Amino acid sequence: MLNRLKIYLITIIIISLFLSGCSSKTPSPKANEPKETESSIVDNHSNDGRTVVGISMPDELLERWNRDGSYLKDQFEKNGCDVIVKFANNLIDTQIGDLRKMIAEGADILVITAVDGAALSSVLEEARAANVKIIAYDRLIMNTDAVDYYVSFDNYMVGVLQAEYIIDSLDLDSSQDSENIEFVTGDPVDNNARFFYKGAYDTLKPYIDNGKLIVPSTQTGFYETSTAQWSTDIAQQRLQIILNSYYPKGTRLDAVLCANDSTALGAAKALESNYLGTNTVILTGQDGDIANIYNIINGIQSMTVYKALQEESIVTVSLGMSILSGRNPTSDLIDESKWDFECSYNIKDYNNGTKVVPSYLLNPITITAENIEKELFDTGYYSRNSAGLIYAAD
Ligand code: BGC
Repeated sequence: MLNRLKIYLITIIIISLFLSGCSSKTPSPKANEPKETESSIVDNHSNDGRTVVGISMPDELLERWNRDGSYLKDQFEKNGCDVIVKFANNLIDTQIGDLRKMIAEGADILVITAVDGAALSSVLEEARAANVKIIAYDRLIMNTDAVDYYVSFDNYMVGVLQAEYIIDSLDLDSSQDSENIEFVTGDPVDNNARFFYKGAYDTLKPYIDNGKLIVPSTQTGFYETSTAQWSTDIAQQRLQIILNSYYPKGTRLDAVLCANDSTALGAAKALESNYLGTNTVILTGQDGDIANIYNIINGIQSMTVYKALQEESIVTVSLGMSILSGRNPTSDLIDESKWDFECSYNIKDYNNGTKVVPSYLLNPITITAENIEKELFDTGYYSRNSAGLIYAAD
């Protein structure tokens, strides 16, 4: 009797081991997913035939990453994928842990905005070993050949647009006066920050060299002007110190080149509390966060560089779905997609230290009080509710 029971139990165990091994190896496509080819969905995942997309965003506190996260999630889900979204609170270890979990949960593709572009090499090796495809979203991931594609805006151009706005507003090409400027740049571990800085600095340098622009603090380098974690508070504190030290008794400050909207909020607070001059100081930004849109309308911030996140996510999802269907997209993705916005395919400029990463790049635009209605509201990127409150479109 005991022997018979033993044989019965052993048989059950063998059958169930056999069945579970089968189900983890042969995912079956859902009706509304693109047909998977051999190279698309990996065979070492145990995701029961689901197509899993992992989205790793750097920080939940900054408005834009919430929007990016939800646009990407919605669109991948509409394409039949299961989506995991994680925010890393700007912490490198949290992001690495998030990525490990997503690989373990059977992610077929990871869309990553790196907290620190240079800190993901080893976790991405693990992803590569599990045959997970990687899209660097908005920020390039450095020093690894495991990153397959990069989707972003022309980051150098963001800085150029900020600098050109300052040059035009201060009439630097025709005026004989010298103007005072300070720099508040981005997070040094974000690869984009250097591109923004370089675009701005290259454009402003001739005017610094010919004396039309003066930097009283003498702080013009990338590191000395940088803002850890793009923090509003850190930007505010640094500019307060500069104002107290170099702009006593109302010395005039004409412009602050702020790399993005979170730093521009800090600069605006510092000007409000510690600037003794009476002129309106030109203040640049980037993103079009709601608080900054109000500041532009109210004349507190002069401009922002707007990057249409919906479009960045549309390109990313099309790219992701194309990769998942087993293709190796190139410029043909742009030709076939027929988007109603411009996007270029770049295979020369985004070298991550290990390889040139094929990139899809979108165009940023300058937003000022003059064109904000036309560019942001008439286009439907933003709306006002019945109480007049501004919100970003879904
Ligand atoms: C993004 C900006 C953003 C900044 C802070 C950059 O990598 O390109 O849009 O303002 O990070 O999160």
